Amino acid sequence: MQGCSIAVLGATGAVGKVFLSLLEERNFPARSIRLFASSRSAGQRLRVLGQECIVEEPTPEALKGVDIVFISASGEVSRRWAPVAVQAGALVIDDSSVFRMDPQVPLVIPEVNADDLTHHRGIVSIPNCSTTALVMAVYPLHRVNPIQRIIVDTYQSVSGTGRSAMEELREQSRALLDGGEYPARVYPHRIAFNLLPHIDAFLDNGYTKEEWKMVEETRKIMHAPELRISATCVRVPVFLCHSEAVHLELTYPMSPEEAREVLASFPGVAVLDEPKAGRYPMPLIGEGKDPVYVGRIRRDASHPRGLAMWVVSDNLRKGAALNAIQIAETVLQRNLLPTAGRR
Ligand SMILES: NC(=O)c1ccc[n+]([C@@H]2O[C@H](COP(=O)([O-])OP(=O)(O)OC[C@H]3O[C@@H](n4cnc5c(N)ncnc54)[C@H](OP(=O)(O)O)[C@@H]3O)[C@@H](O)[C@H]2O)c1
Repeated sequence: MQGCSIAVLGATGAVGKVFLSLLEERNFPARSIRLFASSRSAGQRLRVLGQECIVEEPTPEALKGVDIVFISASGEVSRRWAPVAVQAGALVIDDSSVFRMDPQVPLVIPEVNADDLTHHRGIVSIPNCSTTALVMAVYPLHRVNPIQRIIVDTYQSVSGTGRSAMEELREQSRALLDGGEYPARVYPHRIAFNLLPHIDAFLDNGYTKEEWKMVEETRKIMHAPELRISATCVRVPVFLCHSEAVHLELTYPMSPEEAREVLASFPGVAVLDEPKAGRYPMPLIGEGKDPVYVGRIRRDASHPRGLAMWVVSDNLRKGAALNAIQIAETVLQRNLLPTAGRR
């Protein structure tokens, strides 16, 4: 039989659901698939790749003989199950932040640093969803005109927090419009009709963990350990897509025309930049789409080598599920599975 055997831990979550539909959309070469979640969802029946699968709770036994284990659940689940899957001989593609900065774990966006996959030792991490959008938009420019400094402000949708946060925004908005109230459970404050300049915990340096992930992960993926980056991450009452205002300081001046040309020729990036005609990236445009959209490209009036732009990306697709599947596709093309010799 052709193809590989895969398992998905977190198949019922916000990322997991998109992941399952992308497997079909991309006709992923899986000869068998097992779906896992917590006891809350065990027993649910889900259709994927033409088969009906029953969601199970993970066990060490169930992970035996699997070629690729996708983990998209939580840091705790990744910490618990990734070593078990590696021990059983699988490649783990992990969505959590647990292993991202481990020097032995490649942190990969295939369009940018697919070659790093060669050094995997059983685990490959995907970046944080806001990092992926940023790197996809700045790396093509960095290749032709090295970036010296990045300032990025994010406008991140609630689906970045997962299923429960989407429910909180929906129910809170409904309650407020009806004159009622709905308590904040997932977020520290009300998210409906509000903005939160607070994603993940605060660090001693005044940044949040989310902001610091953008700094460290961008440097690792771009192999640019000295790159100066400052991020402010903001949660906004939008269901899908992260948006980012990006300011770059380059080594040489760059015209917006050249930047548009460079970005438009990079795989996975779409330039949408006719602002006077009302054409620019918005979450409404990015929802359910694969590319990272870039627009509002202009000279930064405050710096002679500066460029400003606006970026939008579907955090559940390129920010998570799509990137993980592209990693698996690259691993298969390059014959890099730990089980390659045994299949
Ligand atoms: N959301 C994004 O945009 C995004 C982007 C990049 C990376 N990530 C990462 O992707 C992961 C999943 O995020 P999400 O947004 O999809 O979260 P989510 O909507 O909260 O889904 C969590 C999934 O994990 C399962 N799960 C929870 N506890 C479990 C356990 N003990 N054993 C097995 N399965 C368990 C849940 O199953 P039940 O149905 O049983 O509860 C559900 O399927 C996280 O690590 C997150 O950091 C998310």
